[in-house]
Amino acid sequence: MIDTIIGPQWGDEGKGKIVDFFANRYDLGVRYQGGNNAGHSLVVGGKTIVLHTVPSTIFTLPSLIGDGVVINPIDLKKEIENIISFGGNPKENLLIGNRAHLILPTHILLDKAKEMAKGGGKIGSTQKGISPVYTDRTARDGVTTGQIFTPDFKEKVEALMELNKKQLGIYSYELDEKELSNEIENFYSAIEYLKQFKFVSCAYYVNDLLKENKNIIAEGAQATMLDLSFGCYPFVTSSRTLATAIPSELGVPTKYLRNVIGVFKAYLTKVGAGPFPTKLDGDVAKKLQDAGHEFGSTTGRPRDTGWLDLPLLKYAVMINGITELVMTKLDIYDVLDCDIEICTHYKVNGVETDKIDFNLVNEIGNIEPVYKSFKSWHGEKSEGVRDFNDLPQAAKDYIDYIEKEVGVPISIISVGPGKDDLIIK
Ligand code: GDP
Ligand code: IMO
Ligand code: MG
Repeated sequence: MIDTIIGPQWGDEGKGKIVDFFANRYDLGVRYQGGNNAGHSLVVGGKTIVLHTVPSTIFTLPSLIGDGVVINPIDLKKEIENIISFGGNPKENLLIGNRAHLILPTHILLDKAKEMAKGGGKIGSTQKGISPVYTDRTARDGVTTGQIFTPDFKEKVEALMELNKKQLGIYSYELDEKELSNEIENFYSAIEYLKQFKFVSCAYYVNDLLKENKNIIAEGAQATMLDLSFGCYPFVTSSRTLATAIPSELGVPTKYLRNVIGVFKAYLTKVGAGPFPTKLDGDVAKKLQDAGHEFGSTTGRPRDTGWLDLPLLKYAVMINGITELVMTKLDIYDVLDCDIEICTHYKVNGVETDKIDFNLVNEIGNIEPVYKSFKSWHGEKSEGVRDFNDLPQAAKDYIDYIEKEVGVPISIISVGPGKDDLIIK
């Protein structure tokens, strides 16, 4: 069966750490969407490693980069070398799906050119080429990993790059031909490097394991609010991030989906543009950002911080079919000495509701979060706690309230970045 870990918020909830924690219960780890716009942090041997394309199970299990993922060969090579330096064995454990699409150097230029042309309307893309590569996939112009072994691979890549160069013209992008040709050289050399790893037919590989009653952990990247269809469109990524995308992106029937574990932060963060109704400013925002080291794992950009948004969390639980929740970064609230707020509802043009179309937050008029206040536990600590009963009473009240409101058990609470900084309820 397949259990899934997804983000019910705006990403960076701590999915990587939780996948790593669960890994030893499974036979295979798999990523099913997104690319190296993701940054998933794990602590290995006391040091933090950030993974971008490789599943966070790589230090424990055979790990498959599934067919719905998009791969930048240059960055994947660097990532693999880094994994090896951390003691991992990708030669043995890494598998790559044959239908995963390749991010070409021109995709990255197109991403940059598009964002520049948007001016004030920027999405805040990570500029890793994600939108252009998925566009080419949908337009049926893309090049896949399986094609790297075919005689006309270079021809296909050159043809797509020519097309991309014409598209760059729309944005009046000034192409640095020398820089591009260096990148193309790096691209081909990375492709040669990757040929030593195992390439598999994703659907056959995964279905064969499932038929043998093996268990798989599927790791979502990005998060619900960044889902192409049901996120805060257009401030989203270009893949389907929901748990419900697994069957179509891995090539498995829906009957194999079992638990869907939503990993959410005790508060809320977001990097990139778009609406953020419970966003904080000032002193509290700064405290959360500093204590939580809220800077992007991929781009280093500062993440905005805000209060937990229950309507948003309930929406994520509903559309993903979340069966269990993990709360991360409760320890960051140890630093707050003011009341902690939870957004329970919204007032939309004066009417209270907990159901809003998050993509229309800027359009449907006056939206005001309605908050319920909780006492802080300043002076006491959640950091270091391993038993739920040992948490400060105010922290227990905070967790119990969320669990009751959302109607899904919060089975694990994370109180630090380390693999064992966990309270299992
Ligand atoms: P992901 O993209 O969902 O895998 O999350 P990221 O790795 O981008 O961001 C989560 C950050 O929070 C990383 O720096 C983690 O090391 C850190 N982290 C995860 N869980 C906890 C926690 O419970 N407490 C603290 N203090 N840090 C955590
Ligand atoms: P993980 O898996 C947080 C955001 C970008 C931008 C939008 C579109 O680490 O949680 P893209 O490069 O995909 O075209 O950018 O999505 N974004 C993320 N934000 N965590 C991520 O991944 C993200 N991946 C993309 O900041 O707003
Ligand atoms: Mg991240």
